[in-house]
Amino acid sequence: MARILITSALPYINGIKHLGNLVGSQLPADLYARYCRLRGHEVMFICATDEHGTPAELAAAKAGKPVAEYCAEMHDVQAELAAGFELSFDHFGRSSSPQNHKLTQHLAGKLAEAGLIEEVSEKQVYSKADGRFLPDRYIEGTCPNCGYDKARGDQCEHCTKQLDPTDLINPRSAISGSTDLEIRETKHLFLKQSLMRDKLNAWIDSKTDWPVLTTSIAKKWLNDGDGLQDRGITRDLDWGIPVKKGDEDWPGMEGKVFYVWFDAPIEYIAATWEWADAHGYPNSAWERWWRTDKGADNVRYVQFMGKDNVPFHTLSFPATLMGSGEPWKLVDYIKSFNYLNYDGGQFSTSQGRGVFMDQALEILPADYWRWWLLSHAPENSDSEFTWENFQTSVNKDLADVLGNFVSRVTKFCRSKFGEEVPAGGRYGAAEEALIADLTARIGEYETLMDAMEVRKSATELRAIWAAGNEYLQNAAPWSVFKDDPDHAAAIIRLMLNLIRVYAALSAPFIPEAAAKILAALNSEDDAWPDDLEAALEVLKPGHRFEVPEVLFAKISDEDREGWQAKFAGQRG
Ligand code: 2FM
Ligand code: ZN
Repeated sequence: MARILITSALPYINGIKHLGNLVGSQLPADLYARYCRLRGHEVMFICATDEHGTPAELAAAKAGKPVAEYCAEMHDVQAELAAGFELSFDHFGRSSSPQNHKLTQHLAGKLAEAGLIEEVSEKQVYSKADGRFLPDRYIEGTCPNCGYDKARGDQCEHCTKQLDPTDLINPRSAISGSTDLEIRETKHLFLKQSLMRDKLNAWIDSKTDWPVLTTSIAKKWLNDGDGLQDRGITRDLDWGIPVKKGDEDWPGMEGKVFYVWFDAPIEYIAATWEWADAHGYPNSAWERWWRTDKGADNVRYVQFMGKDNVPFHTLSFPATLMGSGEPWKLVDYIKSFNYLNYDGGQFSTSQGRGVFMDQALEILPADYWRWWLLSHAPENSDSEFTWENFQTSVNKDLADVLGNFVSRVTKFCRSKFGEEVPAGGRYGAAEEALIADLTARIGEYETLMDAMEVRKSATELRAIWAAGNEYLQNAAPWSVFKDDPDHAAAIIRLMLNLIRVYAALSAPFIPEAAAKILAALNSEDDAWPDDLEAALEVLKPGHRFEVPEVLFAKISDEDREGWQAKFAGQRG
């Protein structure tokens, strides 16, 4: 048994997330967390809302609400949707929590003590029309690196380059659109990450098992000369974590807050602290996940995120933790994702394009989405959601393969033997071949799941379902029953047990269906089939069950066309 710490990139508080956001971090992180728990590991799965910075302020202003109130409400909305998608966080925290205030101020103090913080009089963009500085997303313009014309002041979404607002070509205010901008001086704190280039380089070089997508982005920003520029970690904003050195005031920094990308990853730690507090546990309960001097040296820490988040997690956040000089746990493995596109274009929060988490759950249960999204996760390249593809996947994989198998076996048993596991009969060569085939496939499935190969795992799981179907088709208990009811009983006993095994294996992908299957089988045994033969004997002759209701309804052409039309425009 291992101890595995899993974090998903923290969703911005600025509204309900779309399915592209979901599949880029929270959903695959949940898949992995559920799998690790089923394999008997001790798991801490952490997520939170990312509540500071310009995205929060802009969204609150648009909603006409004070930002604190807006964040509190949106946190609850996001928590409820996460529960709706069966995301099994141990804690879903808030980056605005008192714990994060404390930790962020503490780490800034340590970095200052280590000589890694510099006070710089900085040139910032000031908008006369808006009467304020325009940090980060308050400003938009053309990316100097790739020419994308909607780059934001903090990062270009297109090429992932981290930017400063003054880098943008043809800048304009995101509040008023005004181009009447000027550069004014203001004092800010800078994290001298350039001093840590060698340390970071060596650390990234030691991660030989990281996916190419992760290391290539990290290396690009580390070695291209300006990727590891010293970065401003404070902002002239009202909402955020006040700049302090531990508990002490920071002279000259009055009225300023930390930059959202400084405090957000620290919330991974703070959210674990929130978890401990919420349960009334002592500090040692969260420190054993995060402090290598307090037990975290034997933790494996895995992060999930979209590719635009990689530079912050491979450079800035490790620089913060390493630079503090304290024994914080660093990430062991980063699983990053490309983008999911929507029907010939991009999902877009600002333009309300695509399907959003609340809308998805209004039309279909979570498992339908989980299955499609995970089996099409944008791992090696961007992938695309189309309604046709979604319909095909749900109907073929879930309804025809898994759902139909469960229904045929349970209904046949009810009609011939009643709603209980039949006794009698023995397994023959065909049954032994099936068990051998499934043993090999489950081994492969475990290898893929351990490696977080999301799409390939889904393909293998589907093959495991299909193997049962194929066997059933060939074994044809409905024909065998006429001459050899005893053998038909053995076949059906095996199949009922296989359904229970399918529930356990499938639970990380489709937890609701897995729970429904187990409930129908009147079993609470969701143990992973480490020993398949033994697992196929769990439901004994005479064990009562019920035929479950239809597990997956097929998506009709009419439904598909209706949704296609409904989600063609912008979200209202
Ligand atoms: O890109 C985003 O959606 C950010 N809110 C992710 C933050 S991850 C972490 F570092 F907090
Ligand atoms: Zn760019």
